[in-house]
Amino acid sequence: MNQLTRLPGTLDPAPPAIHRRRRNPRSGSFGVLDIGSSKIVCMIARIEGDGEPRVLGFGWQRSRGVKAGSITDLEEAERAIRAAVGQAEDMADTQLAGAIVNLSCGQPESRIQNLQWLIGGRAVTEADLRAVLLEARRRNINAEAMEREAVHTFPLGFSVDTTGGVEDPRGMICETIGARVNILDAGSAALRNLAAGLARCDMDVQELVSAPYAAGLATLVEDEKQLGCTVIDMGGGTTSLAVFQEGQLVHAAQIPIGGIRVTSDLAQCLSAPMADAEHIKVKYGSVHEAPQDEKEWLHVPQMGEEADQIARVPRAMVVRIIRPRLEETFELVRARLEAAGVTHEMGRRVVLCGGASQLVGVRELAAQVLDRQVRLARPHQVRGLPEIASGPAFATACGLLAWANGEGKPLFDPGAGADRAPGMLSRAVQWFRERMA
Ligand SMILES: Nc1ncnc2c1ncn2[C@@H]1O[C@H](COP(=O)(O)OP(=O)(O)OP(=O)(O)O)[C@@H](O)[C@H]1O
Ligand SMILES: [Mg+2]
Repeated sequence: MNQLTRLPGTLDPAPPAIHRRRRNPRSGSFGVLDIGSSKIVCMIARIEGDGEPRVLGFGWQRSRGVKAGSITDLEEAERAIRAAVGQAEDMADTQLAGAIVNLSCGQPESRIQNLQWLIGGRAVTEADLRAVLLEARRRNINAEAMEREAVHTFPLGFSVDTTGGVEDPRGMICETIGARVNILDAGSAALRNLAAGLARCDMDVQELVSAPYAAGLATLVEDEKQLGCTVIDMGGGTTSLAVFQEGQLVHAAQIPIGGIRVTSDLAQCLSAPMADAEHIKVKYGSVHEAPQDEKEWLHVPQMGEEADQIARVPRAMVVRIIRPRLEETFELVRARLEAAGVTHEMGRRVVLCGGASQLVGVRELAAQVLDRQVRLARPHQVRGLPEIASGPAFATACGLLAWANGEGKPLFDPGAGADRAPGMLSRAVQWFRERMA
């Protein structure tokens, strides 16, 4: 049947879902910065006339001074951030005063708050919503999040008296409104160190965006976001997850282990230098043992020994070292999902991204341990982005561009400081500047 013929009575196939909503896209050129445990990426971009971003400058450096997503050595981190930003600035021929930055530090985690708010028979105003969302944040801090600071405040839905499922209650007349709010917070000290690291580079944190949420914005199709999907961003120092449902972020969490741990396991077990262990992992690593792996011998340089001291190990041994660590990681992810009440009904689908998702066999292992349908993802194409940055390790950075373009932003921003550099973060920058002056 050619394209033009159609059987009588059949319907046209449904058009692809492309109802991506954008709120307050950036104008002019802007910068995004993904400070990872393995690499630091800076992109300078602008939104073109048709509403799509174009990358004007790109910088990429090996990370230093960052562990499990948090800055642990300010001097080293400054050097690496400056180098990545400088590369992007040279390419774009512009200077950045600030950037939209990934939130990966301070063990980010989301909590749901449910509130009722008295309106008293009048129309709901913007001030009411602001008050409700700020109250949700206040309760979050009081309840269990000591020494933590709210970074995102996502309203998941409102009810107006007895009517649920209201996305935007402004202007509606009612006695009370109910709100379900997802608050994503992170450790205050780690946030302060992130601010200090950027202040040393003469950069402002313009907005902070959850790293796995950004990765989801860059990799998921609209149907996945709507029907329910968990994104697992498998990085070097962290494995972070974001659960999407009905187009919203309903849960996010982070586990402080990633690909670097797999490499260090290999280095320890094989007595190999870390660089050689990394090479062996990327080139020969897998989570599935094949019968021929017992007979394939790998040459492994020995830590601290002369270059001619080479051990021979069967490839099967490498697989046997790698697999338990990956199994453990997915078991921890499964436990986090269960603890957060993320059931199979909320999403049978998992999307893997991040550099460590490239290990052979990871998709199958994730499907087995998580008992879900799993696909591997790379970010949607972005204009002007070099081919080298098209892989899954760049999902978070590309998602920060999507956020700058207004994708995934909440309906309502409860006020200065929310979903931007948090208040404490801004104060930390100020404190740092005063002492550096
Ligand atoms: N082909 C590959 N096979 C297996 N692992 C790989 C491959 N390529 C990269 N990795 C691993 O991916 C990890 C880095 O991933 P990524 O660049 O996403 O981390 P990051 O964003 O810097 O860190 P994080 O998000 O945890 O702070 C490293 O541990 C590296 O060994
Ligand atoms: Mg990362």
